[in-house]
Amino acid sequence: MGNNILAGKRGVIFGALDSNSIAWKIAEKCHEEGAVMTLTNTPVSLRFGKLSELGEQLGAKIIPADATNMEDLEKLFTESMEELGGKLDFVLHSIGMSLNVRKGRHYTDLKYEWMHKTFDISAMSFHRVMQSLWKLDAMNDWSSIVALTYIAAQRTFPDYNEMAESKALLESFARSFGYFFGSEKNVRVNTISQSPTMTTAGSGIKGFEEFFNYAHKMSPLGNASAEDCASYCAMLFSDYTRMVTMQNLYHDGGFSNMGMNPAILDMPTNVNEMQK
Ligand SMILES: NC(=O)c1ccc[n+]([C@@H]2O[C@H](COP(=O)([O-])OP(=O)(O)OC[C@H]3O[C@@H](n4cnc5c(N)ncnc54)[C@H](O)[C@@H]3O)[C@@H](O)[C@H]2O)c1
Repeated sequence: MGNNILAGKRGVIFGALDSNSIAWKIAEKCHEEGAVMTLTNTPVSLRFGKLSELGEQLGAKIIPADATNMEDLEKLFTESMEELGGKLDFVLHSIGMSLNVRKGRHYTDLKYEWMHKTFDISAMSFHRVMQSLWKLDAMNDWSSIVALTYIAAQRTFPDYNEMAESKALLESFARSFGYFFGSEKNVRVNTISQSPTMTTAGSGIKGFEEFFNYAHKMSPLGNASAEDCASYCAMLFSDYTRMVTMQNLYHDGGFSNMGMNPAILDMPTNVNEMQK
């Protein structure tokens, strides 16, 4: 049961594909916390995914939009404000796709047309979303914009491939646009750096299951689930975090501050034993 921390708030949620999607759980949580929202995804994913089920469940209108297309975005935000009855209080960017990852290209042998597409979909789309919201003056005072990211932006995770650079760019857009949104419109912009999570995008990464287990063992609290991410995100959309902006916030059970966890080593932890 929710605590109504988003009562009276209006938002737009990008990126719910099926019930495993992190955005799906976030939409459910926002609804539970009293918010109203519109849901959006690409026309193709609306055909193959399950978003209409979520729309029915939450009584939320679905508005198709490709986040790399400015006309689609303008239409989405204009229609959302009409549907919801005013300016927006929160927007979630939960979008990622890399053809090089999908097609199993090695990092030392990437196709640049695909890399362009990856950056456009996974990172530049965040700037596009914010630029569109800015030009339409669609965000309320003290509203909140959040995008999902991953720690490969800061550290090397070889199989994450070009998505690492994509996330670095995404996080930088949050800081740079966060400055303008903060100082001119009292709007905050943050990224949540989430644990590995079993979703369509996540499981597309080579060796994902092994890595998921590794991260789970490495993190003192274990991997953060999509449901936990949803609660954290709802808090970031709420008035309890009015002064938090331009931050990359780790939501990872402690993984990001670990150096070594003995639990992960299949070897003696006693130094004397190791020297034998
Ligand atoms: N799953 C993980 O391990 C993990 C960890 C950290 C961060 N993330 C991030 O979380 C976000 C959501 O991913 P997810 O794991 O829930 O997977 P997902 O596959 O459920 O979601 C990705 C979404 O991006 C949408 N999308 C792709 N191209 C688009 C476009 N052009 N326009 C609009 N939408 C488009 C897809 O339709 C899909 O709904 C991504 O940014 C991902 O990088 C995921």
